[in-house]
Formats: sequence, C-alpha cells, structure tokens
Amino acid sequence: MASYDIAVIGGDGTGPEVAAEGVKALKAAADKFGFDLKLSDYPLGGEHYKATGELVNDSTMRELAQFDATLLGAIGHPDIKPGILEKGILLHIRFTLDLYINLRPVKLYPGVPCPLKDVADGGIDFVVVRENTEGLYAGAGGFLKKGTPDEVAVQESINTRKGVERCIRYAFEYTKKRNKGNMLTLAGKTNVLTYAFDLWERAFNEVAPEYPGIKTDYNHVDAITMWFVKNPEYFDVIVTDNMFGDIITDLGAMIQGGMGVAAGGNINADPDGTAMFEPIGGSAPKYTGKGVINPLAAIGAASMLLDHLNESAAAAAIEDAMVKAINTDMKGLAAGKMGMSTSEVGDKVAQYIQS
Ligand code: IPM
Ligand code: MN
Repeated sequence: MASYDIAVIGGDGTGPEVAAEGVKALKAAADKFGFDLKLSDYPLGGEHYKATGELVNDSTMRELAQFDATLLGAIGHPDIKPGILEKGILLHIRFTLDLYINLRPVKLYPGVPCPLKDVADGGIDFVVVRENTEGLYAGAGGFLKKGTPDEVAVQESINTRKGVERCIRYAFEYTKKRNKGNMLTLAGKTNVLTYAFDLWERAFNEVAPEYPGIKTDYNHVDAITMWFVKNPEYFDVIVTDNMFGDIITDLGAMIQGGMGVAAGGNINADPDGTAMFEPIGGSAPKYTGKGVINPLAAIGAASMLLDHLNESAAAAAIEDAMVKAINTDMKGLAAGKMGMSTSEVGDKVAQYIQS
C-alpha cells in the first residue's frame, strides 16, 4: 500500500479550522482509494511566535523538506506586524525548500456563481504559474536615512536567468501535459520594466521552439486584469513573476467564486522535492473560531496535494465531492453565508468522497 508522509501547518486565524477539513478530505480519500497517510502537525504561526519568539527553526525546516508534502492553513496574525510571520514562515518555507512554482488554478466549478456577467456555468478554467522565489519578494533593498525627511526606500525585483527560465520551462511542460488549450501566455510589463521583462521575454522566446505544439501569447499585466473580467474564457495557462502572480491570482480567485474556493500549490520540478499546498486566502481573523469560514479552498488544496503525489483518481474524487457539496448542500460560498458550518461542509465532502 502506498504511504505518504504529510505535514500539516494549521497556522493562524481560521487556518487550523480549514486545514482540519482538508485533512478530513485526505483521510476520506485515503480510505476510499487505499493508500496510507502519516500526518504530522506543526503548530507554527503567530501564537507559537508570541509564546516562543520562534518563527520556524532550522531543524523544523529540515523535517519539512523530508515530507512528501505539506498542507498549510494560513499565516498572518493581527497582533504581529505585517511581514514578520509572512516572511519568517511562509516565504521562508517557499524559499528554503526552493518551491519555485506557485501553481494557482482558476476554475469556476459548475454551479458556482460567477460575479461576472455572461460567463457560462463552469466556463472559466485556466492556471496561473507564478514564479515563487524571486522578483520583488526576494527581499533585496533597504532604507537610507530612515525616519528623516531625506529617507529613501529601495525594493528591487530580482530576476535571475536560472530562476526565470526554470519557471518558464515548468509552465511549458505544464501546458503540454494539461493539453487543454495548448496556449501559454506570458504576463509581463515589457513596455516599462524593460530590464526584468526583457529577460523574461527572451527566456520565453528561447524556450518556446522546444514546444512546437504550444501556442505562445503575451499580455501586459494590466491588460491581463482587464481580460480576466472581459474575456476570462480566453486563457489556458499564464506564466508570470512573483508580484504580478500574487496580484492577478486574487482577481482570479474572485472570478472563480471567491477566496473560499481558491487553492494553490508551492512546488518544484525536483523529483525528490517536497511541496506545500494552501488555500490562497488569508487567516481571516474576524471569523476565527466561529466555524463559519469556507473550507473548500483548503479541501481543494488537499486535492492538488494528492494530484501532485500522482493519486489522480483520489484528487478528482475530492474535486467531484466539492462540486456535489456546492450544488447539493451549500447555500453560498462566502464566510457565514454557507447555510452550514465549516466542519459540516467538510463532513459532506468526506461523505461524498467515500460514496
Ligand atoms: C499569497 C499571499 C502571500 C504572498 C502573503 C501572505 C505573503 O498573499 O500566498 O498570495 O504574497 O505570496
Ligand atoms: Mn496573495
């Protein structure tokens, strides 16, 4: 029997509540599809930081690297200055484990209300491949004369040929394997960011001939946000840098029915590499402990996790179960509007996985 070692980081706010429902789905799928799960909890996040002063220590990092995958709830605490936990935990894991791809499907499941007019039921289905270790997120920069009237703040976007090319290669491979629209769109800003996106565009054009079956396409990132609203059916796979990928996937989440359903994976193409899957929304402090947050994004992350481990039938069964719960049981997808509690949604999904 196949067996997988999975780390679970509930994290902050509603993170532990939604991660628990993701775990419920994983267990139901393991039962149904005959594989074994060894789950290990890591109590990282704001409360752990407040109690111990520790973000993630090196030995935990070494342990996380050994898991087949990690399921993460959310990171971000209202008592802690923005940036400390995000950089110290979430980005630290992404960077240290070299999870250089942030894979974010934008999929409008059948029966999910779309805030856009004239979109066919289930009519949006594209994937954003976001570079996950460089760009403005690399942390390059600093202050000069901080706190004085002459203060200067510099924050540089780091784009290495290696980092950009491996991301682009991953995106071409992914587009080919997905075999849906067979079109890869580069989202950039070649008209203004004439260094960074010059490198991106050259790398894109140099890799493209290796994939004769894939149509290439380019859009400026500002125009992409327009097309997401005007013509989202157009896209198949989009590749972009870290910051643009962050921004456009929040818009992507809204057109797929909201943060309650949007999931993502932090991965790399290293065959021995680990990976981390998460709902893309935040820790939603105001809903913490109320049992009203939508766990579907975390459950979708669990589905992506199993797909990554090549348990594709189990992954598909989780998605099907989500669609069934949406269409049979849930009154809405927003927090507090589901007509049922967080754990009741998880129970329904688990029940449908097993049926
Ligand atoms: C995301 C989040 C993170 C990011 C934050 C919490 C650091 O917004 O995963 O999209 O900016 O990458
Ligand atoms: Mn984000």
